[in-house]
Amino acid sequence: MSEISYVVKYDLNPTVEEAYKVLRANVQFCESSRKIRTIAITSYSPGEGKSTTSINLGISMAKAGMRVLYVDADIRKPMPFKYFMSSNLKGLTNYILGQAKLEEIINKTDISGFNFITCGIKTNNPVELITSDKFSNLIRELEKLYDTVIIDTPPLGSVIDAAVIAAQVDGTIIVIETNAVKCQNALRMKEQLVKANANILGAVLNKISKSEYKNYYGSYDYYNSRKKYIKMWSRLIKNLKSLKRGEHD
Ligand SMILES: Nc1ncnc2c1ncn2[C@@H]1O[C@H](COP(=O)(O)OP(=O)(O)O)[C@@H](O)[C@H]1O
Ligand SMILES: [Mg+2]
Repeated sequence: MSEISYVVKYDLNPTVEEAYKVLRANVQFCESSRKIRTIAITSYSPGEGKSTTSINLGISMAKAGMRVLYVDADIRKPMPFKYFMSSNLKGLTNYILGQAKLEEIINKTDISGFNFITCGIKTNNPVELITSDKFSNLIRELEKLYDTVIIDTPPLGSVIDAAVIAAQVDGTIIVIETNAVKCQNALRMKEQLVKANANILGAVLNKISKSEYKNYYGSYDYYNSRKKYIKMWSRLIKNLKSLKRGEHD
């Protein structure tokens, strides 16, 4: 593993952090008969939030004491290095092409238990790399080293890579950006994953607005609502006391 510990840009507000904790718990709830060690994250289109979800879920798991590895397998459109303040690293493609050893592509971060592999150099034949024995053997190797391996994949609406990866992991999470994907496309993606024999763990509805979130969950900000709730009761008690004393506003 690299000697350098990369700084991860991680500045979630408590509400968002809580949402990833809920996602983490829901993944654990899916573990009925078999342990979910390897997870693929996909979506129909680019930009729906696959990388964001993969990294934040991984960090949430690491913060809960798990050893987590994030693998960027979106070889066609590598994740911009805005999360990991690093560039030019040897990654997944270098390993599959025999240009790097496993220990050379695993990077440490300043978040304890959270490591990552970048996608590596660009290649002209991404599907061949993903379908190679070397890739499947790598997944088997990595699941021995980590509690959870999260694989960030390309969008299924454009290329087949994610289905190939989904067929080789314990579970797949679909990210859906609110109001961005047609229902029939989401269903088509699901059918493709079912065909690949993927174990679909569920879907993450991403980029939801505060008002929409409120409609789903009643209150989007538990802490602030709690403050408001306490304030309301204090005012009520004060009013009752003054009423008893015969005072009026
Ligand atoms: N829940 C969210 N709320 C706001 N912005 C988000 C959210 N999820 C992702 N984004 C932003 O949307 C853009 C695309 O997200 P990204 O995770 O890179 O998508 P993908 O990996 O699916 O292409 C990024 O700029 C990211 O910061
Ligand atoms: Mg991405």
